[in-house]
Formats: sequence, C-alpha cells, structure tokens
Amino acid sequence: MRAFGHRILIVVAFILVAMAGPGAAQTAATSPAVTSPGVTSPGATSPGAGEYMMRAADCMACHTRPGGTPFAGGREVGTPFGTISSPNITPDPDTGIGKWTDAQLAKAIREGVRPDKSLIGPPMPIEFYRDMADDDLAAIIAYLRAQPAVKNVVPRSTYRIPLPPSYGPPVGKVKAPARRDKLKYGQYLVTIGHCMECHTPRNEKGELVRAKLGAGGQVIEGPWGKTVSRNLTPTGLKDWTDAQIAKAIREGVDRNGQHYRPPMAYEFYKNINDADISAIITYLRALKPQPMGPAN
Ligand code: HEC
Ligand code: HEC
Repeated sequence: MRAFGHRILIVVAFILVAMAGPGAAQTAATSPAVTSPGVTSPGATSPGAGEYMMRAADCMACHTRPGGTPFAGGREVGTPFGTISSPNITPDPDTGIGKWTDAQLAKAIREGVRPDKSLIGPPMPIEFYRDMADDDLAAIIAYLRAQPAVKNVVPRSTYRIPLPPSYGPPVGKVKAPARRDKLKYGQYLVTIGHCMECHTPRNEKGELVRAKLGAGGQVIEGPWGKTVSRNLTPTGLKDWTDAQIAKAIREGVDRNGQHYRPPMAYEFYKNINDADISAIITYLRALKPQPMGPAN
C-alpha cells in the first residue's frame, strides 16, 4: 500500500488531460445522457439517488474522454510511471462492464479488484471509495447499469511502478452514518467526494500526510498554469460564511466573485443538496486548524 510514491503525479497528469480537452468536464457534466436530479433529497436506491451519488463521487470526470460519451472511458494519459487509460464502464457486455455481476462491480469500486483478480491502479481513488456505504454503492451500480451501452475498446493501462498487493482486506458491510449526524455524515461525503486527495499535502513519496488533513498546499500544474489546493481547515476558512463555502464548492466561485481554476471539481459537485453541503461544511469546520501545507 505504500508503493504509490508517484501516485500524485499520476493523478495530476490525469487531471491535466481531463481538463485540457475541448469541453472536458463541462461537456461531460452537461451531457444529455444524464438528467439532473436537481436538489432533491436522495437516500433511496433510485436512479436519482444513483446519479446523485455518482456525481458526488465524481466518477464521470475520469471515465469520460474529453468530448466523448459519458462513462465510455478512453481518457488516456502517458506519464513517466505508465500509460493509463480509464476503462469503459457502460453496460456493453464486450467492451464495458455488462457481464460483471453487482458483487463484482462492488468489489472493483470499493476494493480495486476486477473479476479476473487483477488490481485497479491509480488514479481510481479506491482508498476513499472503500468507505462507500452499501446503499450508495448499490445506487451507483444501478445508475451505471441504466446508462446506454457503448462499444468502445479501451487499452489496459500499463504501470511502470509497482502496484500494491491490495488496498486492504475485503470490505464488509458498510453503512453510511445517519444524515442527522451532520459531522459524521459530512465526513462521509468528503471521503467519497475524495476532496482530501487534493486538499491534503503529500510528502516527498507522494503519500497523503494524514496529520495535516485538509491543510491544502498541493501544487497542481496543468494547461491553466499552477493551482494550489486551498486550506480547508478552520485556519483557512475562518472568515468564510457557510454560504460562501457552499458557493465555492458548488459553483467554483470565491468570496470576491473570482472563478476557481481546475482541477477543483465543482462541475461535479454542483448538485450536492443544501443538507449535504451543510454537513460537509460542519465537518470542515471541525477539522483540526492547520497552517496551509505543504508537509515538508
Ligand atoms: C480520478 C479518476 C477516477 C475516478 C474519480 C474514478 N475512476 Fe474508476 N478508474 C479510473 C482508472 C484510471 C481506472 C483503470 C486503472 C487501471 O487501468 O488499472 C479505473 C477503473 C475502474 C473500474 C474497472 C473497470 C475495468 O474494466 O477494469 C471500474 C468498474 C470503475 N473504475 C468504476 C468507477 C466508479 C463507479 C467511480 C465513481 C464512484 C470511479 N470509477 C471513479 C479512474 C477513476
Ligand atoms: C482534483 C483536486 C480537487 C478535488 C478532488 C477537490 N478540490 Fe477543492 N480545490 C482544488 C483546488 C486546486 C482549489 C483552488 C483552485 C484555484 O486556486 O483556482 C480548490 C478550491 C476549493 C475551495 C475554495 C477555498 C478557498 O480558500 O478559496 C473549497 C471550499 C474547496 N476546494 C472544497 C472542496 C471540497 C469540499 C471538495 C470535495 C467535495 C473538493 N474541494 C475537492 C482542488 C480539488
């Protein structure tokens, strides 16, 4: 599990490609194949709930080629650590996940293990998805199955870095914290939204420095130049109102009306409903105050 020294670079390179293509995230997010659930209250295992959770967990961003069909994969990026392609996760039986059972899909998403027992590599954020609750996972799987099947052969990634033997022991039953426990539920949403993947500093090996959770300071380079992930602990957000934080997450606009640059994933967080945003903010406000990263 400690073998991902260069994981961050892969993530960054991947994001770079994700954001560089014409339309990129925008196209995917507004694709006609996906209807907006609006700010309804999810929870039940309905297609609406599945889409809601899929967006909160940001699956489409990586699994769609810039300008391509949602979830058909084919976003490819060459890095010094390997050539990485995002697979086709539409229900096509031959080139997608159509032949996988629900249990196999669940194992792939939460444990990073395919039906053939091979391990899914970065930047698929398995370490965060391990905490995904059974209900939400089932909703996402149902949602994926309801998407149009697209034939699209995507080459397997090749990694020149060693992948870990596994991401941990098999995941058992996972229940989301009760929504009324705003702190815990907020933590849950931040985990599956993989916010801390960007908003926590990394050490020189590329590992997240958990002791500095949320302190920001990761430098992320791309065609837009350089962005630095912000400090989400109370030190960073102390003068911000809840409404201002909500606007930053959902609309990508700061307190002065400035638009954030990539790769902050607000396009995919824009449907997060008010109750859930409030839970996320409750959790962020309870983080240990920290000066802005980086770690070293
Ligand atoms: C940051 C980018 C990223 C995000 C976010 C992401 N994935 Fe992935 N995913 C990948 C990559 C890259 C691979 C392939 C890695 C490899 O080749 O080993 C992958 C592999 C998979 C696979 C295995 C498919 C196969 O044929 O091997 C499934 C299933 C999957 N992802 C589903 C999901 C779902 C569902 C979500 C959201 C809950 C999600 N992914 C979010 C990048 C991502
Ligand atoms: C792929 C990386 C990435 C992910 C994932 C991500 N962010 Fe960000 N976020 C950034 C970057 C980079 C910025 C700063 C952008 C800029 O400077 O223009 C930012 C800015 C912000 C800001 C503005 C703070 C300020 O001080 O201006 C907030 C709030 C925020 N993110 C919250 C979140 C939350 C909550 C999540 C998860 C639901 C999340 N982010 C997921 C990269 C990310």
